[in-house]
Amino acid sequence: MTHAPADVATVRPSARAAGRLRIPGDKSISHRYAMLAALADGVSHIHGYLPGEDCLATLDCLRKLGVTIRYTGDGEVEIEGRGVNGLRAPSVPLDAANSGTSMRLLAGLVAGQGFRTVLGGDASLSRRPMKRVIAPLTAMGATIASQDGRPPLTIDGARLHAITHQPEVPSAQVKSAVLLAGLQADGETTVIEPVATRDHTERALRAFGGTVESDGNGIRVRGGQRLQARDLTVPGDVSSATFWIALAAGTPGADIEIEGVGLNPTRTAMLDVARRAGARIDTALEHAGGTDGGEPVGRLRITYADPRSFEITPAEVPLLIDEIPALAALGAMLPEGAEMSVRGAAELRVKESDRITCLARGLRAMGTEIEEFADGFQLTSRPLTGGTVDAAGDHRLAMAFALAATRAAAPTTILGASSVNVSYPGFFDALERLAR
Ligand code: S3P
Repeated sequence: MTHAPADVATVRPSARAAGRLRIPGDKSISHRYAMLAALADGVSHIHGYLPGEDCLATLDCLRKLGVTIRYTGDGEVEIEGRGVNGLRAPSVPLDAANSGTSMRLLAGLVAGQGFRTVLGGDASLSRRPMKRVIAPLTAMGATIASQDGRPPLTIDGARLHAITHQPEVPSAQVKSAVLLAGLQADGETTVIEPVATRDHTERALRAFGGTVESDGNGIRVRGGQRLQARDLTVPGDVSSATFWIALAAGTPGADIEIEGVGLNPTRTAMLDVARRAGARIDTALEHAGGTDGGEPVGRLRITYADPRSFEITPAEVPLLIDEIPALAALGAMLPEGAEMSVRGAAELRVKESDRITCLARGLRAMGTEIEEFADGFQLTSRPLTGGTVDAAGDHRLAMAFALAATRAAAPTTILGASSVNVSYPGFFDALERLAR
């Protein structure tokens, strides 16, 4: 049904969506385990590390900071930790490629090291806002030069002091950058979030033997702690699973089962939305007490039930920002005339692409009626025609368009399709198996 020569994929219509699968490791958790293993004392092993380009960029950056990393083909990464203050001055700029998480978290990691680090990325990352990490890390004592708040960043590490930081936008990346810097600071660093965001950094710090206190939206970490090496397993990425949830929710007769997926409550808000859109979703925890890394993991079974219009409210957005492209594809797959909308999601404009404009352009080219707002969009499902769409180099848009393409009347050509390798290598093979 699909073939992906170079950077173009053609997705043919399919009447079927069924099967059982496991999905690659969680992108957010992979980054964090690698970085904390690099700061720990001893040798860590990370199983199920996501072999996506973003997480490989993090490994490459850590190597340039003097960390010895062995990556075996079976998904296990061995990392020789250098201790919290033991990174080495890089002799070349670090390349975070397309990865905002790599850049923002590494900025926090190197802010307290006694050397200069230059952090750059690809054209998309070079357009993304970095003031949100520059401001708190500068307040802690680092000196950071940028291109008017955008990459590349030149960070002169320094002896840091603790701060209390209240980010203006809810961002797990900003929280994590400040907490990683806080590990190296004098005193206790506090982040007070406007809305609680994904808590993988807090869970991972505890898994590596660190102490982090959280109450409500306040998170505190004390500087001077040591971390211990660990053997940990990364759960399957629930944001990648969302594409199959949307596929099943929008395909008559669908029945898809996903095993070994992370079910951290700060990541599963989209299950409620998919249920409101009429999907039947059963969840079963596989490790009731969480994995060795303190992350809940389980199984999902999604069956097509009663598809209908749905809305994502501004209050829901921070906990499902990455899932909006998949949920928009579901909107486009609903029966004709059904509506889907999201507001309060201006952050979508500063992700790997401007996800409001690029999503609207692509779905419109496939036949969907869609109106764009500064902070969201509203679509009305119309018969999908197929055609040519441009993913704008954005992995989640390539996958969203591929889903909608399965419901179209004719094949769809997706430009920029190889971007799926950023977070979901093997996506098109999995689509081929589920929707043949
Ligand atoms: C991430 C946090 C989110 C998310 C990104 C991964 C993380 O970004 O969109 O894909 O791993 O912390 P923000 O923190 O900027 O909202």
